[in-house]
Amino acid sequence: MAEGKGAPDGGARVLSAATREHIRHSKDLYPSPRSAVLPALWAVQEQLGYLAPEGLAEVAVELGLVPSEVEAVSTFYSMYFQHQPGRHLIQVCRNVSCGLRGADELVRHLETSLGVKDGQTTEDGVFTLEGTVECLGACGGAPMMQVDYYSYENLDFEQADRVLAEVRTKSGSAGGVGADA
Ligand code: FES
Repeated sequence: MAEGKGAPDGGARVLSAATREHIRHSKDLYPSPRSAVLPALWAVQEQLGYLAPEGLAEVAVELGLVPSEVEAVSTFYSMYFQHQPGRHLIQVCRNVSCGLRGADELVRHLETSLGVKDGQTTEDGVFTLEGTVECLGACGGAPMMQVDYYSYENLDFEQADRVLAEVRTKSGSAGGVGADA
């Protein structure tokens, strides 16, 4: 075995033996290696925190696919991160119900409150704002945002700021969102 001696394509390995084993196991579960791309990407994200290009390259090698096939899947779903996210992920739904009830304005407000643009992470690494996600299944509570695994509905600007201030406090980071709200 070439354990620890570099990726099969000659580059440096970024995936642990456990992650590679998980990918191989996933591959064995399906008739087509393509079907194992999603669980393989989860395994990479679980280890690295996001889908680093080197990790994607290793997935392609492990599954016997061309890199573009793996990359195409990795960019299709918003649950897969292309960059290292902050400690807390804010997702604002911008689908029809939320869009009609002010989701665009809510995203613009959060951009101002957090001092980042949509898709960026705050300087202190606490929040990543993802304001381009599709329906999160809480249409009756539009506009809504999800912070990590919790949903917050019928939001106005003050409520959204308050939620983020509470999350920031719980995560032990001082200052920031909604300080003036
Ligand atoms: Fe926003 Fe469904 S449209 S949660």
